[in-house]
Amino acid sequence: MHKVILDTDPGIDDAMAIAYALGHPDIDLLALTTVFGNVSIEKTTRNAQYLLDCMGAEKVSVAKGAAVPLVQPPLPHSEFVHGDDGIGNCYPKAAVKLNSQAAHAKVQSQAAAEYIVSMARAAPGEITLLAVGPLTNIAQALILEPALPDLVKQLIVMGGTVDEPGNVTPLAEANFFNDPHAADTVMAADWPLTIVGLDVTHKIMLTDTHLARLRDEAGQCGQLLWDTSRFYIDFYTNNGAAIGLDEPCCAMHDAAAVVFLVEPDVFTTVSGASRVVTDGMAAGQLAMDRKGYQYATGHWINRPVTTRACMQVNTDAALNAFISTVISFGSS
Ligand code: BDR
Ligand code: CA
Repeated sequence: MHKVILDTDPGIDDAMAIAYALGHPDIDLLALTTVFGNVSIEKTTRNAQYLLDCMGAEKVSVAKGAAVPLVQPPLPHSEFVHGDDGIGNCYPKAAVKLNSQAAHAKVQSQAAAEYIVSMARAAPGEITLLAVGPLTNIAQALILEPALPDLVKQLIVMGGTVDEPGNVTPLAEANFFNDPHAADTVMAADWPLTIVGLDVTHKIMLTDTHLARLRDEAGQCGQLLWDTSRFYIDFYTNNGAAIGLDEPCCAMHDAAAVVFLVEPDVFTTVSGASRVVTDGMAAGQLAMDRKGYQYATGHWINRPVTTRACMQVNTDAALNAFISTVISFGSS
């Protein structure tokens, strides 16, 4: 059983990741830790609570995290991708009603970084951190507890890109671009770390046919994912980001990181010491020493090689893993 803390900025594809993590029988979702990103921290935290309520998982903890990046001034949020509310303008009127019980997901008194550290200390070597937003909370947790990489089982990050062009600049993926200093702080530490970046997430496109299956076969959860994805699908379609397919589609980015956790063999990876460019024209770019040169200059001296990045994916297997799990979760 994978004990997971999901660090997230919900987010339409974040909602897909939450549904998948909740539904997978091998995942024990301990908490959602929230971070600014797709929308403000107030909205991502509210959405985390709302999504848990909608999915009947109000017992899962929520810990509120960073409102702004570690160093740089905040950039505009991504309402044009995820809607003003962050979930496709479905809050609070998603076709799904809040669960009928009186209980609702609660925000912890501990902030996200403190929560991550205290959970890792309490269960050394057991917790998987799955980070699918800007890496600010993870960097703050690392600053609070420099031994964090030894205290967690692994860190899986949706972010960055090795060969695939960026989605906010030609070089940068959105989560790394939103807080490049945090991304570099995290990459510079010696974790068991896997990057699930655009190299693979742009190869796993959810079509309207897939989403209609979820709507029709995955109960309230499927209806929620259908409703929230309407805005996101329009963004992808109108911006030429719907890659290589004839029908409306969108990337399932964050859910792909959950697929990696439970189905790692669906991916092929490359390893190398990694850093992230923090400033200038290339800000947010992931730099990975794929050749294993062990460069002896500048930032690269004595860099540990504990980072791997997913480069290829069996697309059908990844899509089937996600869709079948959400259907069995939502229909039960
Ligand atoms: C990442 O950026 C956010 O918009 C998505 O939720 C995902 O985590 C993709 O670049
Ligand atoms: Ca996200």
